[in-house]
Amino acid sequence: MTAGERWDAKYAVWQEPGAPSEFVTGCAELAGGCPTAVDLAGGAGGTALWLAQQGIDTTLVDVSGRALEIARDAAIERGLRLRTLQADLESDLLPTLDELGGADGWHAAVCTNFLHRPLLGALDGLLVPGGIALVLIATVDNLLRNARPGRPFLVERGELPELCTGLEPVSFEEGWFGQRHEARLVARRPR
Ligand SMILES: C[S@@+](CC[C@H](N)C(=O)[O-])C[C@H]1O[C@@H](n2cnc3c(N)ncnc32)[C@H](O)[C@@H]1O
Repeated sequence: MTAGERWDAKYAVWQEPGAPSEFVTGCAELAGGCPTAVDLAGGAGGTALWLAQQGIDTTLVDVSGRALEIARDAAIERGLRLRTLQADLESDLLPTLDELGGADGWHAAVCTNFLHRPLLGALDGLLVPGGIALVLIATVDNLLRNARPGRPFLVERGELPELCTGLEPVSFEEGWFGQRHEARLVARRPR
């Protein structure tokens, strides 16, 4: 079974995009105006639709065609413009900027609850100079209270900023956010 088929099966029972990430909605760096954004492995589009609603030209990338369908339906229903792209972000050859649809790079790249270390190391190449990355991943400490996500999907404590090579941290928080232990990084591609 491919990653797409596995995730399609999970999204089969979903009808709605879900709520946007409060890490993203609360990000001060986005508040100043941001022309374009990409949400990588953004699922059924909860966060991507919120970005589109802010007037940001938004691309949602995910391996699941079913998740993207949910997002597209919601965009139509809400009168929002949302680009969607089905891509396997874990394949050996990471998609190039052109393949992802951002000719000159995006002004913001979001990646929440999806850990593929090579992708995080390539975020700088997806951004325009000065562009920001917003990354949120649960840490290994999350296992103290939650059985999932499992170990392969968790970062070590302090690991996240080191994974995002080529980006300068703007803010980094690690700790309990409600019942989840998360690493939250906002980082910028140098100008
Ligand atoms: C835990 S969900 C997180 C969704 C969303 N980012 C969020 O925070 O709610 C993980 C997402 O990664 C997507 N995904 C899994 N493997 C992938 C891959 N190889 N390439 C692209 N997306 C993938 C899944 O379809 C799913 O939408």
